[in-house]
Amino acid sequence: MSYTFTRSQELFQRAQGSIAAGVNSGIRKMEAPVPLYFTRGKGPNLWDVDGNHYLDFQLGQGALLYGHAPEGMADALAAQARLGTHWAAQCELEIEVAERIQRMIPSAELVRFNNSATEVVTAAFRLARAHTGRPLILRFEGHYHGWADEGLVGFANPMDRWGDDETPAQLHPSKGVIPEVLEKFVVVQWNDVAHLRRRVDQFKGQIAAIVFEPALCNTCCIEPVEGLMATIRELCDRDGMLMISDETITGFRFGASCAQGYYGYHPDLTILGKAVGGGTPFAALAGTKAAMAKILSGEVVHAGTLNGNPLCLAGSKWCLDQILALGSEHPRASQALGNHLMAALSELGAKHGIPLRPQGPGLIFHTVMLKPGAAEGPVRNYRDYVRRHDAPRWAHLRRCLLEEGVRAIERGLWSISLAHTRADIDEALVRCTRAFARHASTWVRPA
Ligand SMILES: Cc1ncc(COP(=O)(O)O)c(C=O)c1O
Repeated sequence: MSYTFTRSQELFQRAQGSIAAGVNSGIRKMEAPVPLYFTRGKGPNLWDVDGNHYLDFQLGQGALLYGHAPEGMADALAAQARLGTHWAAQCELEIEVAERIQRMIPSAELVRFNNSATEVVTAAFRLARAHTGRPLILRFEGHYHGWADEGLVGFANPMDRWGDDETPAQLHPSKGVIPEVLEKFVVVQWNDVAHLRRRVDQFKGQIAAIVFEPALCNTCCIEPVEGLMATIRELCDRDGMLMISDETITGFRFGASCAQGYYGYHPDLTILGKAVGGGTPFAALAGTKAAMAKILSGEVVHAGTLNGNPLCLAGSKWCLDQILALGSEHPRASQALGNHLMAALSELGAKHGIPLRPQGPGLIFHTVMLKPGAAEGPVRNYRDYVRRHDAPRWAHLRRCLLEEGVRAIERGLWSISLAHTRADIDEALVRCTRAFARHASTWVRPA
């Protein structure tokens, strides 16, 4: 079976008349052959306006750790909606959610809520600068920290302008950015401990914080090398910088104590998004009392009309209760499913002569498509990925997968939800078998 997308095409055409470029987040335009329009989701299943059914591994860009439309969450949201959707004031629910986060994440001594992780990143950087009285943030090339001016410096450096390996360029993929913002970042390559030490020493006394995605999920899916987290902690302690763990993707996916529990480190500030709200617009800044001090004193402004919105809080409370109830079963169960899927995709690739190399810790992983002649072995950092990943060939396979009813994130990231079962993975693999065969027989490199 190969899907058609006529109704999505019609709606996308119509949307051009009222929505700028037809989508509400630029990345959604990447979906080929057309940005899809959905009607319904349930667990790992998703249906579009053409009646096509997908086994979903895109999962709302990873936010739907609990799957689509879980009954309990729907009930919690509906019950809250009847009581009120917004007060811009306090309610007991916000304490209940904060206490759950505190219980699960040892470094979360205090929290503050926002509605997107982009906002939380802004707050964390402001707090770090106020805390240290220093101007610079050290960040890693290819890591994504939201779409604001400060979040994207060095995220998508193009190869012809990315600078030498020792001094990655502070480029921003958007026009319209305040130019001085670029100068406030030191960009460093991921997974090179000696290089990180040299860069920190080069700017000694000027760096307020080191920020990172603990597993680099926004460029491939690249776990930290042994010793990297310990080195970041050591350097932050030595030089009085704050360690900021951006757990927007890894938070609660990697277990109740997030990636910081999974890899064993203790940050000063943590950025939580996506799974903390399970698909509601909810995000949190968590940190030690010391790191949050300037919010307590009122010297750092942190605000937002919809912060601690009761609807999001009701959703979040339900989500966090699922994680708490799973105990040590999470993330083991979803990791086992993901590992099985990764191994089966590798086998399918080998069978069809497709150089596909799934990479990641199973809970989430990336399907690297090797360019002709590219070296084997795990991708280590952003530059390695850009040099070795065959984006056009992956895009072709991704479209074949979509047309057989398997949906991964456009750039090649797959997330496993707590709603996926072994039967869902097996069904997805039946569909993948068809998609791989079709890709192998129809793939032609564009001229
Ligand atoms: C690591 C990371 N940080 C921050 C963000 C920004 O989150 P939001 O889209 O909620 O603003 C994202 C979004 O994908 C992310 O992956």
